[in-house]
Amino acid sequence: MALNPVRWPAEAVWEAVEPLLPGFSVEVLPEIDSTNTELMRRARAGRHEPVLLVAERQTAGRGRMGRVWQDGGAPEAGELPSLMFSLGLPLAPADWSGLSLAVGLSVAESLDPDARAGLGLKWPNDLWRHDAKLAGILIETAGGGAALPGQAPVSRYVVIGIGINVLQRPIEGTSTPLAALRDWQPQASAPEALLRVIPPLVAMVLGFAGSGFAPLLPRFLARDVLLGRAVRTSDGLEGVAAGVDAGGALLVHTAQGTQAIHSSEVSVRPVPVSPPAS
Ligand code: BTN
Repeated sequence: MALNPVRWPAEAVWEAVEPLLPGFSVEVLPEIDSTNTELMRRARAGRHEPVLLVAERQTAGRGRMGRVWQDGGAPEAGELPSLMFSLGLPLAPADWSGLSLAVGLSVAESLDPDARAGLGLKWPNDLWRHDAKLAGILIETAGGGAALPGQAPVSRYVVIGIGINVLQRPIEGTSTPLAALRDWQPQASAPEALLRVIPPLVAMVLGFAGSGFAPLLPRFLARDVLLGRAVRTSDGLEGVAAGVDAGGALLVHTAQGTQAIHSSEVSVRPVPVSPPAS
């Protein structure tokens, strides 16, 4: 028996975004290797138009630092376990640093506007709730392309890939517990989350191109889940997370002084606090 097709609000997303991004289009595919891989392929072939590519299944979803993003499998009772999409557009910010933080902030504010559900940001680009991962972001760029009106003439084509867990499901080989939208939003679904997230995300990215990350810093800090916690980075640095700077670098107070971590090739984890010996 055929399952009900997922009903995507493609037209509503297009109507909200096209005035901000002339030439914008929305594509929904039942299956692809990876929405990021596809938009990077197109960019390398000279296609730099603004597009939102949504996939119901990914056979080779990618995360940061060469990790795999698992899509959670086939729809359950017509419902997708995760929302997966990539937004591609030409962009010409004066400074690219902090883009992934701005993207994460926009998604967190759309999914939990008053922060009452405790949705936070884990530098540089994960969304965490109660120390469990709700969403991940993978940003890639390709050269060239005409800039959008009002932007600096030299632009790159940026592909912003986001995966958001909608339903709880087992994921192999990860030590990070998963959070899902349904944990606190019983009505949540991938299509309705898409409509909530995309228009503010496009506005955020265009605003970032004009003003950079600095004006967003207070809002990021209000959701920074690492702030004040003991952390360890994948390259061995240990200290206490002290927020981020105006360029989006993570600040860590260490025994040798405060270090600013810029690299997107570093991962950082809170160090579990052991209970006091009795
Ligand atoms: C991470 O957690 O390291 C980033 C995960 C990013 C996953 C999304 S799903 C849509 C897009 N396509 C991909 O292959 N990756 C991103």
